[in-house]
Amino acid sequence: MTAQKSVYIKTYGCQMNVYDSDRMTDALVPLGYRETDSLDTADLVILNTCHIREKAAEKVYSELGRLRVMKEERALEGREMLVGVAGCVAQAEGQEILRRAPSVDMVFGPQSYHRLPEIMERARLGVGVVETDFDGDDKFEVVPAPARQAIRARGVTAFLTVQEGCDKFCTFCVVPYTRGAEISRPVGKVLAEAERLAAAGVREVTLLGQNVNGYHGEGPDGRPWGLGDLLRRLAEVPGLDRLRYTTSHPRDMDADLLAVHRDLPQVMPYLHLPVQSGSDRILDAMNRRHTRDDYLKLVARIRAARPDIALTSDFIVGFPGETEAEFAETLSLVEEVGFAAAYTFKYSPRPGTPAASLGDQVDEAVGSERLLRLQALVNRQQQAFSASMVGRTLEVLFEKPGRYPGQLIGRSPYLQSVVVAADAARIGTIARVTIEDIRPNSLMGHLVDAPAEAVDVAGAGGWS
Ligand code: 5AD
Ligand code: SF4
Repeated sequence: MTAQKSVYIKTYGCQMNVYDSDRMTDALVPLGYRETDSLDTADLVILNTCHIREKAAEKVYSELGRLRVMKEERALEGREMLVGVAGCVAQAEGQEILRRAPSVDMVFGPQSYHRLPEIMERARLGVGVVETDFDGDDKFEVVPAPARQAIRARGVTAFLTVQEGCDKFCTFCVVPYTRGAEISRPVGKVLAEAERLAAAGVREVTLLGQNVNGYHGEGPDGRPWGLGDLLRRLAEVPGLDRLRYTTSHPRDMDADLLAVHRDLPQVMPYLHLPVQSGSDRILDAMNRRHTRDDYLKLVARIRAARPDIALTSDFIVGFPGETEAEFAETLSLVEEVGFAAAYTFKYSPRPGTPAASLGDQVDEAVGSERLLRLQALVNRQQQAFSASMVGRTLEVLFEKPGRYPGQLIGRSPYLQSVVVAADAARIGTIARVTIEDIRPNSLMGHLVDAPAEAVDVAGAGGWS
């Protein structure tokens, strides 16, 4: 019998990393590891890194510096502490991590976490291990399925990776290099995982992929199924009341997916659809392969299918060569669409991407000032969207206890946090809540016992 050991995983970045960290935990269970949130006592520490943010690698190196001190202290006490670096920084830096941080025992990219048991064994021999191949192994299938209790302990909502990698090559983005070429998991495998989640009590699943609406997994009929087909099939899984997916590319938003938004009540009225810029010249330089007008027309079609849909987006300001007039086109696009929320970024070059070697980099101060202006506009729209909920009755899925006793936190169909006075027994259930008030990042409401037909799910779009 293996002695019980503990693993501490620090997760940076996107939801896919959250999903991957859980899979790493699952892969370590047969080796006698359980997850801990105490860094001080962990026998194994893994940093699951993200390469999207600026200076990501430098931040990882400074964290590794702190871990080295801990590891040395442990060694004096005669205790082991293995250190691993996973995720996109591991993929991008590889061997360089062992060179700069020799106390690291193993470095493995997003395509290798299923080989963790073997990697650990090699790392124990005292030689640093680097595993960053894209080798075509089915990493999703070799990780043991988590036990029911482990699934439920993670909550009533879950992520499920259905697609990974990206072939779009936007000129600012590292993802095609760190996550590799697009692959889609077969429908049968996704379905089996979704059924396992639902049987353990999960009520809402968010399908993940860097380019999730480009999904084209093999269906049971041997043909490639699109995301619309997959959602239709998942909507039949008993207990899965809510389905979401992220992140989508405007070019892959096909008519079938719009029909699914129109027809399936399980598919939530929420869509993250990054546009990045409102200027055609900048969109072209970014290699987005769509124009401003394409995006606006698409938004109109989406809203025709599902009028109340909450749209969110990502924006980059200060892309190389962006003029004030071009930035103003981004502001006007935001005005025209009316977003429920948006993530805004100041461009920063990522080594190895085409845009990093463009001349004409925008001055730091100019970029910062544009970012502030865009954020102010987006915040106004977000507040207007929240305010439009006051007085409405929404279906809320209760997820966890709130900050104060007697409170629960749930999510509206539009992915807003909703705080309600309710008994903890309601966690994992959906109830009708009337919204009374708004806070900067949440809605406040009370439970109602109106009949289900009275639930208002189709308020008008275009709140701003
Ligand atoms: N600079 C700034 N923002 C970036 N993003 C991706 N790469 C960069 C970069 N080099 C932003 C994009 C993307 C989001 C996840 O991160 O807006 O949609
Ligand atoms: Fe990166 Fe998204 Fe563009 Fe792919 S589509 S290159 S993940 S920004």
